[in-house]
Amino acid sequence: MEKKFARTLVTTALPYANGPVHIGHLAGVYVPADIYTRYLRMKGEDVIMIGGSDEHGVPITLKARAEGVSPQDIVDRYHGIIKKSFEELGISFDIYSRTTSKIHCQTASDFFRRLYDKGEFIEKTSMQYYDEEAKQFLADRYIVGTCPHCGYDHAYGDQCEKCGTSLSANDLIDPHSAITGSKPVKKETKHWYLPLDKWEPALRKWILEGHREWKPNVYGQCKSWLDLGLQPRAVSRDLDWGVPVPVEGAEGKVLYVWFDAPIGYISNTKELLPDRWEEYWKRDDTRIINFIGKDNIVFHCIVFPAMLMADGGYQLPENVPANEFLNLEGDKISTSRNWAVWLHEYLEEFPGKQDVLRYVLTANAPETKDNDFTWRDFQARNNNELVAIFGNFVNRSIVLTCKYFGGTVPERGELTEYDRQTLDEFKDVKETLGNNIEHFRFRDALRDAMNLARIGNKYLADTEPWKLAKTDMNRVATILNVALQITANLAIAFEPFLPFSSEKLRKMINMPEANWNKLGSIDILAAGSALEKPELLFEKIEDAVIEAQMQKLECIKQENIIKNFRPEPVAPSVQIDDFGKLDIRVGKVLDCQKVPKADKLLQFKIDDGLGGRTIVSGIAKYYAPEDLVGKEVCFIANLEPRKLKGIVSQGMILSAEDAGGRLVVIGPQGEVKPGCQVK
Ligand code: MF3
Ligand code: ZN
Repeated sequence: MEKKFARTLVTTALPYANGPVHIGHLAGVYVPADIYTRYLRMKGEDVIMIGGSDEHGVPITLKARAEGVSPQDIVDRYHGIIKKSFEELGISFDIYSRTTSKIHCQTASDFFRRLYDKGEFIEKTSMQYYDEEAKQFLADRYIVGTCPHCGYDHAYGDQCEKCGTSLSANDLIDPHSAITGSKPVKKETKHWYLPLDKWEPALRKWILEGHREWKPNVYGQCKSWLDLGLQPRAVSRDLDWGVPVPVEGAEGKVLYVWFDAPIGYISNTKELLPDRWEEYWKRDDTRIINFIGKDNIVFHCIVFPAMLMADGGYQLPENVPANEFLNLEGDKISTSRNWAVWLHEYLEEFPGKQDVLRYVLTANAPETKDNDFTWRDFQARNNNELVAIFGNFVNRSIVLTCKYFGGTVPERGELTEYDRQTLDEFKDVKETLGNNIEHFRFRDALRDAMNLARIGNKYLADTEPWKLAKTDMNRVATILNVALQITANLAIAFEPFLPFSSEKLRKMINMPEANWNKLGSIDILAAGSALEKPELLFEKIEDAVIEAQMQKLECIKQENIIKNFRPEPVAPSVQIDDFGKLDIRVGKVLDCQKVPKADKLLQFKIDDGLGGRTIVSGIAKYYAPEDLVGKEVCFIANLEPRKLKGIVSQGMILSAEDAGGRLVVIGPQGEVKPGCQVK
C-alpha cells in the first residue's frame, strides 16, 4: 500500500549562480519537477515547489576574481538571468530565492550552531595548502598542477578537466596556486566534520530497506556509497565567501557550500510561508520530493539526510528521483567549454516556443540513462509530433466545426460501435498518465498524452466527416462532437507538460479551467457552446533555423579547440645531416586548379627555376584555387614522385597546421628567386 500524504513539498536542486541554466539542468530537474507540481496542483492537492540560486562556493569566487568583480556581482548577475528565464519557460516555482538572502544565512548559521551545541561535529586539524603571497588557504579548486593520470598540466586540485578523473590536491604533480601562481606550502587548519559513519546504520535502514522503490540509478548509487563505508566529512572551509562559521575562533572560515545549499530548501520555504513552513518540513504526513541530477545524489541521499537526522526535527525525503545526464550533439554539456544550449538564449531565439523545448526535453529526458539532445531531433519532434499529430488534430476538429456548425459545439447523436471503440481507448488515460507522473515516468506520461492525439487523428481519418457533409449532417455532428471532446481532453492531458499551448487551446474551445478529474470524459464541452477562431498551436521549424543552431555549435567547437591548443611535444633529436637530406625549395605558384572528383586536392603548377613542376596538395578545404596564384611557397623538391588521382605529384608543399587542423601554406618573408634552397 502506498502511503497517503496530506501535502507535498517539491524541491529542485539550486543551480549555481556562476552561469546561466542550460537544457541539461532543465531536462534533469526543472521540467520534470514542474510537470509533477502542475499535475498535483491540477488535482487540487496541497503542494509547493521550492527553488533558488546556490550562490556560495569556490567557482563563484574564481569567476569573480577572473573578471575583477566581487562574488556578489557575479551571483546578482546570474541569479537575475536564471530567475527570469525560468519564469519565461513557465517553471512554476512558488518561490525562487537565493542563498545570499538574509533569512538563508541566518537559517544555515542556526542549523550549524544547533548541531554544534548538540555535539554532533568532530573538530579536527589537518594540513592544507596555503598561499603565502595571498595569505589564504587554498580550496582544491584553487590549486593547479599536472594530472597524475594523463599529464595534463592544467588540472585542478579537485578534478582533471581533460581526463575527467576526480583528484585531491595532494595528487597533483607540481602544484601551484591559481591565485598568485606561487608554490603553496602546507599549513595546519581546523575544521568541523559531520561524522557520517555515525549515521550509516540509520541511512542503510532508511534507504536500503525502506526505499527499495527508488529509481535503480539512485538506489544503486546510495548502496555503493554505503557499502564502501562512510567517513566524517568536513563541513567548513577556509574561504571569505559564504556563511561564516558561527563559532568562536572560526574567523576566516565559512560553511562548506554543500552544507549551506540544501538548507536553502528550508530557508526558501520559510521565506515563502513564514508561519506555516514547519508543516512542510516537520510533519510526517508531508511528502518531500527532491528533484536533482545524478551528480547530486550523494548530497541529497546521504549528507543532507545525515544533517537532518543529526538535528532530529525534520522529515527525510520520500523520494529523490534523480535523472542521468543530457548530452548535446554527442558531447557532455559543459559550462566552462560553453557547450550547451542556454535557456535565456533559446527563449530569445525561439520566441513563443517554450512548449517545444519542454516537449523535446521531456520526450528525451535522461530518466534511466544518459541521453542526447540534437537539433535534428528537436526539429523532427516539433514537425512530426507537435505539428503533425497534436496541432493537426486540434486544428482539424475546430476548423471543421467552424465550417459545418458555425463554430458551435454540435449536438451528439447515437454513438456507433466504432465511436465507442475509440472512446474506450482513452477511458483509462487519467489513471495511466497520472500513475506515470506519480512514479516519475514523465516520458511515458507524455507519450500517453500524445497517444490521445494519435487516437483523435485516426478517428477523423477513419470517419472522414468531410465526406458525409452532403448526406448525413447528424453523423457529422456526432463525429465532431466526439473530436471536440477529445480536443478538450488534450487540453487537460497536456497542461502539466505544455502549459502555454494548453492555455491557448483552452481559450479556443472556451474551457476556462483544466480540471484533471474530467480527463477521460466525453462530456466536457456542452453542445451549443461557442468556440473561438482557431489558431495554430505549433508551427513547422524550417531547416535553415536548425542549421543556424548547428553552425553556432560548430563555431563553439572551433573556439574551444583553439583555446585549448597546446603544442605537440618536440620530436626526438636528429643530426644536421638528417635535415640535409631534405631538399626544400622556394617556388612560385603559376597556376592552381581543383582536382576533379577529389574535394581535398588542389593541383599546382610551380615555377621551380628548373623548368617547372606539378605538385598536388591536400589543402582545397582552406584555399580557393585563385588565392595562391602568384604567391611564393616552400616545397620539398626531392620527395619521391607520387600519383594522386592519376596526377603525378613531384614534391610536397609545406604548411603549418593550426589548432583545429587548418592548414596554412608557408613561404619566404622577403622576395627570393624561384628554385633557391631553404637551409
Ligand atoms: N548547486 C548544486 C549543483 O548545481 C546543487 C545544489 S542542490 C542543493 O550541482 F541542495 F544543495 F541546494
Ligand atoms: Zn587528467
